[in-house]
Amino acid sequence: MQKVDVQLGQRSYPICIDTDFNDLNAELVQSKQVVIVSNPVVAGLYLTQIKKLFSKSRLEIILIPDGEAYKTLESFELIQSFLLQHQFSREVLLVALGGGVIGDLTGFVAATYQRGVRFLQIPTTLLAQVDSSVGGKTAINHVLGKNMIGAFKQPVQVLINTQVLSTLPEREFAAGMAEVIKYGLIADQDFFTWLEQNQHKIKQKDDASLAYMIKHCCQMKADIVSRDETEQGERALLNLGHTFGHAIEAYLGYGSWLHGEAVATGLVMAAKLSLSRGWLQQQEVDRIIKLLIAFNLPTLAPKGMTISDFLPYIKLDKKVLNDRMRFVLPSRFGVSKLVDDVTEQELFQVFTDGLG
Ligand code: NAD
Ligand code: GLY
Repeated sequence: MQKVDVQLGQRSYPICIDTDFNDLNAELVQSKQVVIVSNPVVAGLYLTQIKKLFSKSRLEIILIPDGEAYKTLESFELIQSFLLQHQFSREVLLVALGGGVIGDLTGFVAATYQRGVRFLQIPTTLLAQVDSSVGGKTAINHVLGKNMIGAFKQPVQVLINTQVLSTLPEREFAAGMAEVIKYGLIADQDFFTWLEQNQHKIKQKDDASLAYMIKHCCQMKADIVSRDETEQGERALLNLGHTFGHAIEAYLGYGSWLHGEAVATGLVMAAKLSLSRGWLQQQEVDRIIKLLIAFNLPTLAPKGMTISDFLPYIKLDKKVLNDRMRFVLPSRFGVSKLVDDVTEQELFQVFTDGLG
């Protein structure tokens, strides 16, 4: 078992990475009341194993239909009503068994049920294992915007079993790799090189390579979150590629491209902005594109989408401050920073040849 600690004083917690589910904290095994939240796909694969962890508890299961379309106020209310109808008290432990959708939704319920109860993350997608299960951002979507209603609520533990990635569809695995590659570009050139050198083992889901890669990402995220839990500064770096990526997702309609696919293209667009500023060399941009393509990720915006199509979404981005667009851009290879001086004119100049 490999362990990473998220250091947040009294709200600190361990991320345990293993090839089984056996590392549940002893105190959680003793929980008197447990509710597992999952969806039919993940429950069909892993619920039996997870139920065994809580043989000493009063246990109920609630399944939400699969997909981003269900990260809603309706699902939130459904779970709250379920908890109330079954008379669960503040002692209840909520268990999020699934990808980022289940994790974000369950976390937001945990933040608000009776003003806050404990929750455990058992992330089952690569994206959730390297990103969404760590750091305590929880949310549901509103028709007017993704993740617009939420709270910071840290889990009490993150339990990662890398074996579950063997059942994950390849496209979902690739989407998670976009977030993994992002970490190399934020602050770790050596990790980027390691990904280049180990791409075949990663694609073959070699246990040791997956464990090393996931632990490395969790460690980077844990360190950033420990220093800046509520995104007053440094945490925004984790959004590298996301300003462009969110625009692609919203323009196409959520679900057409996976989040990680849109982020992959967003990483390339950020790199091209840095190239034009002289912060990256052409061969460095080419390295980024090559690694993304190696994992079957898109590197060009959807056909027909122009920079004018991006702008309305960029202006709605959560990072916009005092009316200034803010981007995370590589300031050199393997280091990124937050900038607020990108103008519309610069965007039109850099992406003058189109993007698709
Ligand atoms: P997801 O939760 O929709 O899971 C993707 C698909 O894989 C689903 O169909 C799911 O049922 C299936 N699945 C999950 N695990 C499986 C397994 N082991 N085997 C087979 N199928 C499996 O998508 P996601 O990419 O995990 O998460 C996306 C969500 O995460 C978005 O809502 C996004 O906003 C959120 N997110 C949150 C944060 C954060 O910090 N909280 C960060 C990044 C993304
Ligand atoms: N996924 C970005 C963050 O957790 O801050």
